[in-house]
Amino acid sequence: MDAALPIAMRWLHIASVIVLLGGIFYARVVIGDLARGFRPVAYWAIGAILASGIYNFVSKTAVSTNYQVWFGIKMLVVLHVFATTILYRGKKRLLTGIVIAGAIIVAISGYLRWISLPR
Ligand code: HEM
Repeated sequence: MDAALPIAMRWLHIASVIVLLGGIFYARVVIGDLARGFRPVAYWAIGAILASGIYNFVSKTAVSTNYQVWFGIKMLVVLHVFATTILYRGKKRLLTGIVIAGAIIVAISGYLRWISLPR
């Protein structure tokens, strides 16, 4: 049962990321704008990503310097995604930025996972 909370938090992190980035990708590529109704969904997703991400991070034991560096870079790009989502007021260019930044974050996260696995 020790695995239940970490797995639930990992699920919450990835599920919320899918909702946020998937919604913005759909808005940018298919619709061309962010529907007003997406705003509360995005806020909830940001809250869930933050809470589960902090949980994931503090439950790590002994991470390398390389891990810390890439985690820091991830946080900077994440800040860009969160800030742009919150401040978005109809500029299509901002949605493009979020889609690209989101793809970069997912790649960095996969790398963080890879370097923290025992080999
Ligand atoms: C737009 C925002 C974010 C995206 C797209 C994102 C994406 C992801 C993804 C896809 C994973 C799973 C990686 C894998 O298993 O291959 C992950 C893991 C993780 N995320 Fe995030 N994340 C975001 C925000 C955050 C925030 C705000 C934090 C911390 C405050 C955070 C901390 C973590 C940690 C610690 C892991 C585990 C990495 C590992 O396995 O070592 N993430 N993230």
